[in-house]
Amino acid sequence: MVLPGLVDVHTHLRVPGGEHEEDFATGTAAALAGGFTQILAMPNTSPPLSAPAAMATAVAHAQRDIRCDVGLFAGASPGLTRHLPALAQTAVALKIYLNDTYGPLRVEDLPTLHACFRHWPRHKPIAMHAEKQSVAVGIGLAAAHDRPVHFCHISRREEIELIAQAKGRGLPITCEVTPHHLFLTRADAKRLGPLADMRPLLGTADDAAALWAHIEDTIDCIATDHAPHMLAEKRSPTPPPGVAGLETALPLLLTAVAQQRLTLERLIQLMSTNPRRIFNLPQQPNTQVEVEMTPAIIQNEQMHSKCGWTPFAGMTVAGRVSRVILRGQVVFENGRLLAPSGSGKTINN
Ligand code: DOR
Ligand code: ZN
Ligand code: ZN
Repeated sequence: MVLPGLVDVHTHLRVPGGEHEEDFATGTAAALAGGFTQILAMPNTSPPLSAPAAMATAVAHAQRDIRCDVGLFAGASPGLTRHLPALAQTAVALKIYLNDTYGPLRVEDLPTLHACFRHWPRHKPIAMHAEKQSVAVGIGLAAAHDRPVHFCHISRREEIELIAQAKGRGLPITCEVTPHHLFLTRADAKRLGPLADMRPLLGTADDAAALWAHIEDTIDCIATDHAPHMLAEKRSPTPPPGVAGLETALPLLLTAVAQQRLTLERLIQLMSTNPRRIFNLPQQPNTQVEVEMTPAIIQNEQMHSKCGWTPFAGMTVAGRVSRVILRGQVVFENGRLLAPSGSGKTINN
């Protein structure tokens, strides 16, 4: 089967400051191995991408190291919103964290939220990490400022139902869900312990059922929230939240296609067409992902991500990526990565 190049609008590539967990070369290797040819990297780095100096460092490393196309998020930070117009010169979109997660980026006051909407250029997307009632805050801002807001990793029944309602009223909002919130629940969290700790937390079986029920009409994208942390860190007394996801997303969704939980056509909308449209990302000519529909078992040893593990290890999936072609070049074939560092393009929109 041949698919278009997949687009992941939510990855953590850890540059600058977290290169022991992932860097642009390893993160984009994982992307290609998973069928993603275009990805957006999150700004909760160390320092965060909230000021021009950190952004310049990230761009320089990206240009040197990436193997697929990468766009960068700028991160909203109280006291630093004056930098947003400068950051928008290179960043593809703005990320606003309304709730607790990994790293210090957080916006918890309304004046800063309004400043973000005023200083961030209208033609560039705004994405939010918003959980529970914070989703209502994001919807209110989209309505008040009359501009699109994209909600990251929606995970709960109450959230997806509120988004469905707001979309029904014609508000300009979109949302993504992650494979881990579709395929894992709190029962798995019990089994996996810190290896299944992430933000948002895994939901109940009812939450997952609500996400599946909205896969056709309310959910716009599947995004991985690829958030690699080393096993030693996850097993430490203070495990950081997050799991890798770039290399397992497509095999899991292909399994859902084989089980007739969604169509292949819908998978392509969720993993390529919609994310590219919502984030206003360029087309990639002569680019495709070839997939083989043979059962396979997910194994930690196959991962190209620096972290080298996945919460899905041991699961049987219905298909795998056999070949990826980016701009006419074979960049991945039968488990072998062929794209050199620096062969990807940084994205501007
Ligand atoms: O689990 C998470 N990990 N959720 C986030 O929002 C951030 C991420 C990370 O950067 O590790
Ligand atoms: Zn998040
Ligand atoms: Zn994230």
